Amino acid sequence: EKDGHDWFMRKEIFEQPHAVADSLLGRRTRTGELQLDEMRLSDQELRDIDKIIIIAAGTSFYAGMVAKYAIEHWCRIPVEVELSSEFRYRDPILDYSTLVVAISQSGETADTLQAIRHARLQRSKVLAICNTNGSTIPRESDAVIYTHAGPEIGVASTKGFVTQLVACYLLALYLAQVKGTRFGDEIADVVHQLEAIPGHMSTVLDRAEEVYELARDHVGERTVLFLGRHAGYPIALEGALKLKELAYIHAEGFAGGELKHGPIALIDEGMPVLCVVPPKGRDQLHGKMLSAIQEVRARGARTICLAEEGDRSAAAVADTVIELPKVPVLLQPLLAVVPLQLFACELATAMGHDVDQPRNLAKSVTVE
Ligand code: F6R
Repeated sequence: EKDGHDWFMRKEIFEQPHAVADSLLGRRTRTGELQLDEMRLSDQELRDIDKIIIIAAGTSFYAGMVAKYAIEHWCRIPVEVELSSEFRYRDPILDYSTLVVAISQSGETADTLQAIRHARLQRSKVLAICNTNGSTIPRESDAVIYTHAGPEIGVASTKGFVTQLVACYLLALYLAQVKGTRFGDEIADVVHQLEAIPGHMSTVLDRAEEVYELARDHVGERTVLFLGRHAGYPIALEGALKLKELAYIHAEGFAGGELKHGPIALIDEGMPVLCVVPPKGRDQLHGKMLSAIQEVRARGARTICLAEEGDRSAAAVADTVIELPKVPVLLQPLLAVVPLQLFACELATAMGHDVDQPRNLAKSVTVE
């Protein structure tokens, strides 16, 4: 049942290329337009939306953070991302022109369910991104985008997460299509780039052994830090969460630019810092990230950089490089998260922990 793997989690990590491909299936009409079967909101209703609030918990929240970058870039609609457990208590400003997007793998997370009930009482439309057919959250939503990860058994979300990302990209592109934004021409390109992701993910997975070796070197570590910028920032947070929940190691993710505002004081000799390096582009993201890495390295950190293949300037500031195939920055989370999942899984295994059922955690959290 685990296909020869020791853990469901490891099996599910390796299923990700397939899960992504399945989540992209049937989303294009013959004329190349995007279609989302269970959207159930009319084009007019979608055009009327002037604000999006994404609510989710844990790993799904990080998918929501990535979605903000994608939706704001492609659709020019302002997006807020909020933890579902906090949402109701701040008296959020909602009305019929606000679209609330609830992201939940299980579809049963109580915090998220209560949040969408609150949103609907305020007349907002709710769209669920969910992996579990017929679960409560999609049943109580106006529209659904189902992810097609298949059942996720390991408590730590992996293929659930990457398929949530795919659904978020599809939503962003669909909204751009309906609204006819200036990024209209890019839609077909991005869909093609998404369709190439399963192959790229397999390339990353083929190099799993390198990541495993690295992970085994970190048994006994007290603190591990993660750095990212832009869409790589939520991935740094996700990498840290995986390490906390599986290896019970203190881990934190930071935005590269935020380091100098305090966290850099944490760095001492030998502290491992995993860095998600944005692809080289025309903007300054890449260079800014490299200077953050240099800063921590100068203070004794051991830097492990996830960087685009052939990125020599990243290699120059890294003690170890994990190469990622070349993709646009907004899609890089789909690839960058994979080595971080492998790292946490292997490190926890080497420490003798039960990776599928970490202590104190349940697969779906049905209490608030
Ligand atoms: C982390 C993890 C949790 C869930 C969170 C939300 O690996 O699995 O953080 O992501 O409890 O669960 P769903 O997506 O089912 O609402």
